[in-house]
Amino acid sequence: MALRTIREYGDPVLTKKCKTVKEMNDRMKTLVRDMFETMYDTGGVGLAAPQVGVLKRIVVIDVTEDQSEPHVLVNPEIIFSEGEQCGMEGCLSVPGKVGQVTRPNHVICKAFNENMEPVELEGTELLARAICHELDHLDGKMYVDLVEGPLHDASEEIPIDEEEVLDEIDAQVRGEA
Ligand code: NI
Repeated sequence: MALRTIREYGDPVLTKKCKTVKEMNDRMKTLVRDMFETMYDTGGVGLAAPQVGVLKRIVVIDVTEDQSEPHVLVNPEIIFSEGEQCGMEGCLSVPGKVGQVTRPNHVICKAFNENMEPVELEGTELLARAICHELDHLDGKMYVDLVEGPLHDASEEIPIDEEEVLDEIDAQVRGEA
């Protein structure tokens, strides 16, 4: 396994339409493993192949904190979507930035897994948002084009309540957390 370089906004590879995957050979399987490693290494919840410079319809997603629900979606397609959620979104290709984007709140996606077996992935809230965001990458679309209002620095969006942090350190010292 290896970490891959993440392409950043402005790189033309991020604006291209990706090609359908016909077969999952060893090279593609290595790509999927590398994409997971790269996503986990950078603390992301999703990564699309064009973000590592490969124009294939492959995304990986895991929105859990403990990396317990990895999903590989090959040739994914959204077959159902409903509702609406409005929230902050970021992208590993736009480091340090977030912006407000409205997405469906519930989607069902059909795809193939790494063995080219048909799978379905249903998600609400963050998982639905991640599915929509990653699938957009496969058509050369990025969330910055959907942002309502300005892009913010990600650090602005994480208010650090000093008291809370101190309480947490206290609890850790006491062995409670
Ligand atoms: Ni992204």
